Amino acid sequence: MCGIAGYVGRRRAIEVVFDQLKRLEYRGYDSAGIAFVQENEIQVVKRAGKLSALTSVFGSDSPEVQMAIGHSRWATHGEPNDTNAHPHFDQHEQVAIIHNGIIENYQELKDSLVAEGHRFLSDTDTEVAAHLIGRAYTEGVPLEDAVRKTLARLRGAYALVVVSKREPGKIVVARNASPLVLGVGEGESFLASDIPALLPYTREVIALKDGHMAVLEENQVRIWDFDGTPTPLEIMHIDWDIEAAQKGGYEHFMLKEIHEQPEVVRQCLAGRLDEKNALRLDQVFNETVWNEVERVTLVACGTSYHAGLIGKYLFEQLLRLPTDVFYSSEFRYGDPVLSPRTLAVMISQSGETADTLAALKLCKERRIRTLGIVNVIGSSIARDCDRVLITQAGPEISVASTKAYTAQVLSLMLLVLHVAQVREMPGVHVGDVVRALQQFDGLLARTIETEPEIIKVAEEMQNAPLVFFLGRGIDAAVALEGALKMKEIAYLPTQECPAGEMKHGPLALIEKGVWAVVGSSDAKMRPKLVSNVREIQARGGRVVMIAPESDQTLDSVADVLIKTPSTPYEYLNALLTVPVLQLLAYHTARLRGEEIDQPRNLAKSVTVE
Ligand code: M6R
Repeated sequence: MCGIAGYVGRRRAIEVVFDQLKRLEYRGYDSAGIAFVQENEIQVVKRAGKLSALTSVFGSDSPEVQMAIGHSRWATHGEPNDTNAHPHFDQHEQVAIIHNGIIENYQELKDSLVAEGHRFLSDTDTEVAAHLIGRAYTEGVPLEDAVRKTLARLRGAYALVVVSKREPGKIVVARNASPLVLGVGEGESFLASDIPALLPYTREVIALKDGHMAVLEENQVRIWDFDGTPTPLEIMHIDWDIEAAQKGGYEHFMLKEIHEQPEVVRQCLAGRLDEKNALRLDQVFNETVWNEVERVTLVACGTSYHAGLIGKYLFEQLLRLPTDVFYSSEFRYGDPVLSPRTLAVMISQSGETADTLAALKLCKERRIRTLGIVNVIGSSIARDCDRVLITQAGPEISVASTKAYTAQVLSLMLLVLHVAQVREMPGVHVGDVVRALQQFDGLLARTIETEPEIIKVAEEMQNAPLVFFLGRGIDAAVALEGALKMKEIAYLPTQECPAGEMKHGPLALIEKGVWAVVGSSDAKMRPKLVSNVREIQARGGRVVMIAPESDQTLDSVADVLIKTPSTPYEYLNALLTVPVLQLLAYHTARLRGEEIDQPRNLAKSVTVE
């Protein structure tokens, strides 16, 4: 989820590109860089840290050039530092490229280039693409042909932007599953990873399609598919204001981030599956360690803690590994029982949560192995854990966490499946689950299409005095997250517990006007769950149920039934109920007129204990 910017025309290109990058700052970044051609050489300047660290290199007097490309990085391969920042050169500094996404087969490409004598400066996957393009860019070949030839060798998701010293008035771009938009002006052309960076300059925008590449020059934009067939320009006129554009046209970042989840699934899986559907989590521990681990301790706060509860379910059900989940704020003071065969897993979106950092410190003092499941690469938790699995959800801006939760749960699934593969767990058919995961983005997108039904429920629920969130088994864990979302942004009182616990006390709170939201992902729990639902309805409560569409038994049970796509795995079905809960909280809050992206009393990153 990096920021990408580019300009060719008669303005001062460096200033335009800096302004564009500034408008993409809301995407988050850890380093930035720019490339332009001056005196027949490509100049690349890049700096770790904030964009201002880069712009201050030029002060108010940037070179007067008419073409430049820029990048603000959200690291996926390699630490955020000057060297790993983009743009990257090829071997002979003939071309410079910037890239958003992940080149999955970069290691094998790098190995073969190293064998040919190529020297690499960075740890990035991007530099490999730069070297390949540079190698193809031989005498007389136009830059676009060298790029096209290289694309045939790249696997993964990418938006690529390439410039060369031989053709300084030209920018070549290519897109495969990473966003890239082009702006068409009078005698000038623009590119960016996101529309807000274009709007101060032009409102005539082309959304480059997957599998397409383009050449941008001062007076024209040309587009082809990767096979070289020319494609007509489909120019849209954008009349959003800039703030709306940052939210991708959605009313709030939270809604945008909920809708981004299918893309997050793709990103989270990218580079982690091989062609035989086996998992490749090279960054986690080796086989010896996994065979030694006897107990897993998951530590986190808030939504990340809820992801940890699903982690416990998976570690125990699939691996039969005893697993505890602790609130970070309790862990340190609870004198936890830890042995050298314990693996502590710290889960955090921000990687900066003070309670989780304190828990990590305790684990380190006790010399326990630690693994971070973190969204922000380069954050304190990502740096301090022995190993880290980056969730690859991209920057999350809304205080209420949505897409980060989905990425955390998916990362935990990948981890557990990886260990199942290493330990050769009987009965866990990793290849089959991986095949289901490869379809999962589409299923999540279909779940999100139930939004109109969810809005109707929110309309009825918006003034409820109390909303219960219930489930059994894995659905009981998901229910906690649904309730947290409702509290955080709609400020509705909620009560959440396993459905079977209702009769032991909470049932006393049921009366007319009270609602219950009940997940039913797991067929084997359903008969008992139905009895729990009947007990609520008998006391005047209204029940909305969320269940896979393959189930027919709940049609006559629920007051409202929202059907999600079905998979053979209850843990995937449960994750499919999550967008329904997120959208229910979102629309309830919206109807109640609450501030959504910055709810009262809460902060995105909680850096105090
Ligand atoms: O950055 P972290 O994942 O460590 O943050 C943990 C919690 O503060 C966070 O999940 C919080 O509960 C969110 N507001 C939930 O939406």
